[in-house]
Amino acid sequence: MATPLPPATLPDLDSTSRAAEIEAIRLQLRSWPEVETYLEGCKGVIVPLGSTEQHGPTGAIGTDALTAEAVALEVGRRSGVLVTPTQAFGMAEHHLGFAGTISLQPATLLAVIHDVVLSLAGHGFERIFFINGHGGNIATTKAAFAQAYATAASRGLPQAGRLRCRLANWFMAAPAMALARELYGDREGHHATPSEIALTLHLEPSLLAKQRALPEPAAAGPIHGPADFRRRHPDGRMGSDPYLAQPDHGARFLDGAATALTADLQRFLAEES
Ligand code: NI
Repeated sequence: MATPLPPATLPDLDSTSRAAEIEAIRLQLRSWPEVETYLEGCKGVIVPLGSTEQHGPTGAIGTDALTAEAVALEVGRRSGVLVTPTQAFGMAEHHLGFAGTISLQPATLLAVIHDVVLSLAGHGFERIFFINGHGGNIATTKAAFAQAYATAASRGLPQAGRLRCRLANWFMAAPAMALARELYGDREGHHATPSEIALTLHLEPSLLAKQRALPEPAAAGPIHGPADFRRRHPDGRMGSDPYLAQPDHGARFLDGAATALTADLQRFLAEES
């Protein structure tokens, strides 16, 4: 199984040892014999799942992918579990009324996640831990897991009975939600939230230049497609005040989410089949 956890510390983005630890868990930088050797000791893998969609007038289009990837790499660093490339396109149909958004239809995303799981399962991975940055992906991802289990069984994969997929939404991790409440109260809102924007400011300091005070946001409400979303939420925000976001808050969100999700991952890896 995975290597033991090092003590949780606030991440230092400039640390060369931290960079080397992250390099070591990126699947993209491993050779296939290294992956085979890894599988002899650990059957777990982390898949970052994001979205490429508008995040209000001041937030980055890549917010959900950047944040999911950062949390996934930090969880991988702390646990020694491999991290795949980020699936940066998600289900963002309702954001298509805003320039820059790229969406996969639910059926497309379902097929992508299904195929990712089946590819990994075919090599012997048995615990597939998705770290997600976008609420709109949740329903489709869970449907994809059900489909993947059915396919694994019907293809007669030897480990079909031991295959487990788990969806972990970093923004719903208890420490992240508590910190958002403490720092922003009900100004956190539901989309283009200061918590996710804070994390992007921590990761990409150039984004600070976009920050400015914004008018009162439209309140969160039901969504019925892209045109309806843009009419109800003309600047893309849902009840949020991203101007409250600070880069040092972002470091705290990263640490809190990574701490909770690393513990979730360790429990997931230790579960009996
Ligand atoms: Ni988001």
